[in-house]
Amino acid sequence: MQELDRATLPPPLDATRRSWLLEPPQPKKKKYVDLGCILVSRKIFLWTLGAVLVTTLLAGSITMIVRHMPHHKQTEPKPDNYTVALRKALMFFNAQKSGKLPEHNNVTWRGDSCMKDGKDHTGGFYKDLVGGYYDAGDATKFNFPMSYAMTMLSWSVIEYSAKYKAAGELDHVKELIKWGADYFLETFNSSADTIDVMVEQVGSGHDDHYCWMRPEDIDNERIVTPCYGSCSHLGAEMAAALASASIVFKDNRVYSQKLVHGAKTLYNHDMARKAGAFWNSPDYGVSSWDNKLPGAQLFLTRLRLFMSPGFPYEDILSTFHNQTGVVMCSYLPYFTRFKRTKGGLIQLNHGEPQPLQYAATAAFLAALYSDYLDAADTPGWYCGPNFYSTHVLRDFARSQIDYILGKNPQNMSYVVDFGQRYPRHVHHKGASIPKSVKKESCKGGWKWRDNKRDNPNTIVGAMVAGPDKHDGFHDLRSNYNYTEPTLAGNAGLVAALVALSGEETLESIDKNTIFSAVPPLTPATPPPPAPWTP
Ligand SMILES: *[C@@H]1O[C@H](CO)[C@@H](O)[C@H](O)[C@H]1NC(C)=O
Ligand SMILES: *[C@@H]1O[C@H](CO)[C@@H](O)[C@H](O)[C@H]1NC(C)=O
Ligand SMILES: *[C@@H]1O[C@H](CO)[C@@H](O)[C@H](O)[C@H]1NC(C)=O
Ligand SMILES: *[C@@H]1O[C@H](CO)[C@@H](O)[C@H](O)[C@H]1NC(C)=O
Ligand SMILES: *[C@@H]1O[C@H](CO)[C@@H](O)[C@H](O)[C@H]1NC(C)=O
Ligand SMILES: *[C@@H]1O[C@H](CO)[C@@H](O)[C@H](O)[C@H]1NC(C)=O
Repeated sequence: MQELDRATLPPPLDATRRSWLLEPPQPKKKKYVDLGCILVSRKIFLWTLGAVLVTTLLAGSITMIVRHMPHHKQTEPKPDNYTVALRKALMFFNAQKSGKLPEHNNVTWRGDSCMKDGKDHTGGFYKDLVGGYYDAGDATKFNFPMSYAMTMLSWSVIEYSAKYKAAGELDHVKELIKWGADYFLETFNSSADTIDVMVEQVGSGHDDHYCWMRPEDIDNERIVTPCYGSCSHLGAEMAAALASASIVFKDNRVYSQKLVHGAKTLYNHDMARKAGAFWNSPDYGVSSWDNKLPGAQLFLTRLRLFMSPGFPYEDILSTFHNQTGVVMCSYLPYFTRFKRTKGGLIQLNHGEPQPLQYAATAAFLAALYSDYLDAADTPGWYCGPNFYSTHVLRDFARSQIDYILGKNPQNMSYVVDFGQRYPRHVHHKGASIPKSVKKESCKGGWKWRDNKRDNPNTIVGAMVAGPDKHDGFHDLRSNYNYTEPTLAGNAGLVAALVALSGEETLESIDKNTIFSAVPPLTPATPPPPAPWTP
């Protein structure tokens, strides 16, 4: 068997059938009554039965008494580290919100900000661009990484809504997705069927890198960057964000339809998309906001595994399946496709700074693929001649996330407020200036950037850019290569954390929801067989 050809595997069994097969119901027989000695043991048997009955009654009454006695509320089992980190990692998005904040945004040091975005723009096609998320440590709103981040969050919710629910974070993450989606709907004419312009960015990188001030203090006109002609990548990314959000909110028909309509409008905007295939590039298999190929391959592999549409899709889908397998192989420590630091962090960006976002996203894809294979009753996959069990994928995912959470040579958690030791000088304007400070000017804020004190505000759940290729880390506010968090990075982290959180169960993903709107793909009538010839 060279590859996991579905045709050669038994058809997937549903959970009940599988458990039935593994554990056939035992025919009821009295195990301990041997017909040969029944007369001898009968007495003992009755005594035993009596004893069991008495014990059961006793145990029952004790339980009743205990239940009805006033007692302390039963303590919940301590959540695992991934769940704890998940709750925090989501809070980072609360801290990045722009515009008019909801009443309980739960980040004490944040307030309403950039309330005039788009409104005083002299170009004049957009009236209101208030809202959305700041990208990183500054106050620019970039639609591209923002939509990637929202797509990742939505994808993780669609796959793992049960786990989000178990962690008590489902409503939270949905609220975050809606915050992003509502903003995207403002950045183009979402009630139109066709558009010729969309907004790409609000705020300017230049001002933003020069000034160091809390977003709440920004009151200058912020530059709006529109995109007219060739916005196919941006349009596709935003369409993906809205389409995936429409599945998250499928129970809210009106809102969901609005998102679908917006996605269609964006998608039609510029159909000429070229797939950026990276076969021979060193970045092949490296998922990031700038390279969705591994995610797309995995997604289409999912389609093959669970919908098996067959002809005429099978050829291309099995190619994607194979490519997904190869990408997953490339993550394994048995291969040297990517280097690792001594501490075990995979160097998906080849020793360049800011490695954690790539490692976290790869951890998500690996954990997800292992869940797909499990759900399809497939024990593993081939890397060349060798067969690997799905466990190695989870081990890889855990190793990377554990590294991020503190199992590294610095003994440093790279997620703020998780563990004992974490970065205190996060490169983040809002977190570095006390709320009590009266409006700081553009350059006046530099003293907050350049001082050596800890940030006055804890930016809970922010994953910083990360260590260098020698596992070295400098907790310096001035160096974004170590200490800046991003939306895209945290989105990958959240997705990986939810995938790893909670109990490992056979069906931790939701197999059906994601493709539930896809019409049957099998042709109504299969092609006629070729005419017989002798
Ligand atoms: C993918 O396909 C190639 C060529 O058919 C094959 O050599 C390789 O083993 C396959 N890889 C996996 C992981 O299935
Ligand atoms: C803030 O926390 C409260 C209590 O956990 C929750 O009910 C509320 O929805 C949170 N607000 C946001 C915006 O997440
Ligand atoms: C948006 O599109 C609708 C429908 O085509 C149109 O009526 C409306 O004028 C457009 N709005 C703007 C601001 O262009
Ligand atoms: C990390 O912890 C280990 C074990 O406790 C210790 O040997 C090592 O010196 C620590 N490293 C740093 C950089 O603190
Ligand atoms: C969970 O995190 C804590 C705090 O960082 C750490 O001490 C502990 O070893 C972790 N537990 C596991 C099972 O990884
Ligand atoms: C961050 O890393 C990039 C790429 O290696 C480098 O060009 C830049 O100078 C670094 N920035 C700082 C502040 O060290």
